[in-house]
Amino acid sequence: MPVPTDAFVDHLRSLLDDRAILTGTDALDRTADPRGVLSREPVVVVRPADVVGVAATVAACAEAGVAIVPQGGNTGLSYGTHLPADRPAILLSVSRLNRIESVDPDRWTITAQAGVSIQAIQEAASSVGRKFAPDWGARGTATVGGGISTDAGGTNVVRYGNMRDNVMGIEAVLADGRVWDGRRSLRKDSSGYDLKHLFIGGEGTLGVVTSAVLKLVPATPYETSTLAAITGLDDLMPLLELGEQHAPGAISGFELIPDMAMDRLTEVLGIPRFIDAGTEYCVLVRLASSEPVDDMIAGFLKAGVEAGHIVDAVVAGTADQEATLWVMRDEITPMTLWTEHQHLGLKLDTAVPIDQIAEFVRQISARSAEIAPGALCYGFGHVGDGNIHMMILPTSDEAIEPWLAAKPAMEAAIDETVFGLHGTLSAEHGVGLLLRDRIGPQKQELEWEMMRCIKRALDPENLFNPGKLIPDPEV
Ligand code: MLT
Ligand code: ZN
Repeated sequence: MPVPTDAFVDHLRSLLDDRAILTGTDALDRTADPRGVLSREPVVVVRPADVVGVAATVAACAEAGVAIVPQGGNTGLSYGTHLPADRPAILLSVSRLNRIESVDPDRWTITAQAGVSIQAIQEAASSVGRKFAPDWGARGTATVGGGISTDAGGTNVVRYGNMRDNVMGIEAVLADGRVWDGRRSLRKDSSGYDLKHLFIGGEGTLGVVTSAVLKLVPATPYETSTLAAITGLDDLMPLLELGEQHAPGAISGFELIPDMAMDRLTEVLGIPRFIDAGTEYCVLVRLASSEPVDDMIAGFLKAGVEAGHIVDAVVAGTADQEATLWVMRDEITPMTLWTEHQHLGLKLDTAVPIDQIAEFVRQISARSAEIAPGALCYGFGHVGDGNIHMMILPTSDEAIEPWLAAKPAMEAAIDETVFGLHGTLSAEHGVGLLLRDRIGPQKQELEWEMMRCIKRALDPENLFNPGKLIPDPEV
């Protein structure tokens, strides 16, 4: 991967402060691949301390033809910050844009720079009796800017939506170095194109998001979850409906947990088995409210049992149990449970219309059994919003070779299944490099062409994150 010339790096140094440029091993540390798949290459990391520094960096890169790959907390799973192989580029880290600019409970907003962590936003909201809803496992490292750029989701989406639904305005540096301040706090605004949405989920291909106005929601001091063993996947949607009947508006998490992963969680992390009903799946349901939720949970479980959907259930009785249930959920990824072989596997971030979840799992499981019989195939995650992470991977050394031979056919089968059910390959992790060459058939060609037009209009020199997100960018 070509790095910019020393003269260019010196020029950036002259524009910024001493701490802004990292090279050598300090820079390499910023490029660790959370999935452990891609090797690390030499890189120049630029970390401006404010928006003026970002604008100066972008203007200098534009003049020198150096590409810019914006980076948040480096927790992304789609290689959205991988550097281009064919032209000099810098990694533009927002890590020093780490100030919460204002907390405004009366407006129900927080304005924060792009490098602030999701957890810090959650804590700031909670300190004024409000809640910032987006939440996922990497909350302590993932940033506002990264979450916006991938339109990240997590375990609260069933009630509060993805990042897109929780961002009211953004500030971004454009390809010519100008700063667009679109940080409005308006609940209603029908004054034309809502341009922030181009940058949310834009994976840094149109500009660098430097700051955002984030939406707050009422605090939910009462949060209790139940882990229920279900009869089968066809129970999921009737159960979600029962949940909405017995706990209207209170369900804030509705996650699928495969039984076999609970054994593995005990083996690897020592997490106790909360339930052992012998069914293939459990569902982890969280109720969150300003009022106690115990009666609502009891009503929901009773109805679920009576309707034959639930065979057994536990309810978190203490704050510790509640927290452990969600650690269990966060750690169900093969990155924790099958560390040795996970980098060889396929990890899906698919979503399908919610009434197709069971069908989707069935189809992928059947294709996996047929194409890659020696591989482990399991699904978990955010079924309440239609987003399920299916994982297909070898779990022993002997299984590696047949798996690698079967992997391309499995990828093709996945794409065929997802598109056949009118789903998406990317629900919350972004497209990045990982899915760019597979995502094409998901949308009408006209839609990609509209995206290419927008990209060309805002970034005519293809300065920002070249080679990501958009299939066939040159078409
Ligand atoms: C999750 O929901 O745990 C992640 O989005 C999926 C993953 O880590 O693979
Ligand atoms: Zn997820």
